[in-house]
Amino acid sequence: MDPHTIERFEKGWMLLAATLVLVLIGVTLSNVVQAAVPAVDMHHHTLKSVNPQDLSSTPFATPGLKQNEMGQYELYMLAQAFMFNPPVVKVPAGKPIQLFVTSTDVVHGLQIENTNINIEVIPGVVGQVTYTFKKPGVYRVGCNEYCGVGHQSMMTQLIVEE
Ligand code: CUA
Repeated sequence: MDPHTIERFEKGWMLLAATLVLVLIGVTLSNVVQAAVPAVDMHHHTLKSVNPQDLSSTPFATPGLKQNEMGQYELYMLAQAFMFNPPVVKVPAGKPIQLFVTSTDVVHGLQIENTNINIEVIPGVVGQVTYTFKKPGVYRVGCNEYCGVGHQSMMTQLIVEE
């Protein structure tokens, strides 16, 4: 091969490598952007932030399971040192449950066993996830973010009923 052919050959590879790097950067950036945007179901509820000192005008004033005007289940939970409120929750199986959670004090975590529910619970921010519990039973709910001396005992139960 004459040197020009080699040069062109190498240029081709360099271009390919540069393209791959750019694609990778693009993918990484879009993941970062997506991770930065909290998962919020835009279909109806848009309660994204609250005043942790005054929840009286929000559904968190009376935490628990509610049904909205469309008949959908909404579960409001409060995380606080060192308990979840309400302490025990019952939800129906096979129905989408929209879970809203916020903290009244420090950062907590809400993790529900045997599900992919794992929410960082930040004061002032409403964490949200929609989940359908297919199997009836007792699901343990725990705090997985160190929040103080009572962290270990910060757990509750979610009972899924037929
Ligand atoms: Cu709340 Cu750990």
